[in-house]
Amino acid sequence: MRLVRATAAECEAMAAAHAMAFDKPWRQDEFEDLLEGDGIYGFLADDDDQALGVILGRMAGGEVEVLTVGVAPRARRRGVALALMLAALEVARQAGTASAFLEVAVDNDAAIDLYARMGFVRAGLRKAYYDRGAAGTTDALVMRLDLTRGAA
Ligand SMILES: CC(C)(COP(=O)(O)OP(=O)(O)OC[C@H]1O[C@@H](n2cnc3c(N)ncnc32)[C@H](O)[C@@H]1OP(=O)(O)O)[C@@H](O)C(=O)NCCC(=O)NCCS
Repeated sequence: MRLVRATAAECEAMAAAHAMAFDKPWRQDEFEDLLEGDGIYGFLADDDDQALGVILGRMAGGEVEVLTVGVAPRARRRGVALALMLAALEVARQAGTASAFLEVAVDNDAAIDLYARMGFVRAGLRKAYYDRGAAGTTDALVMRLDLTRGAA
């Protein structure tokens, strides 16, 4: 497995990885637009040119928000998401960012477990944050990690 810092050249593969990981994937042009945004950066995980996973973060105001992280089902439980998270947080830490935060659906046990294992703690609840169409809405947990303490 290889991690590549995202540029426009990685956006096609990032969109492919995102489409494998999420029901509502982001298109290649959306990744291209996002990467041009202030403070936005990311990584692609691949193996023999097969896209495995993707992460995007946004640094602003001394914080980094994990905008998305996803791994193709066939590549899960091999540490890909953990590697993507650590790489993204290290970029933020090197840039002097003090804390990380993200939103995660309250029923996303895999992701909550991943973040908790990294030291993220629950910092809030956003009611009805995710719209799941006919299935209604789902609340989001806000989770935070102090990047100044050297963990993760
Ligand atoms: C959540 C997700 C990114 C995890 O990716 P992954 O590459 O499988 O995760 P890793 O292999 O790096 O897992 C690291 C740790 O996270 C936890 N974890 C990951 N998946 C888990 C699961 N299905 N159940 C319980 N714990 C899990 C474990 O502690 C795991 O360590 P272990 O394998 O040694 O037990 C992946 O399941 C995914 O893409 N899900 C769909 C998209 C999504 O929900 N993204 C997050 C949105 S907030």
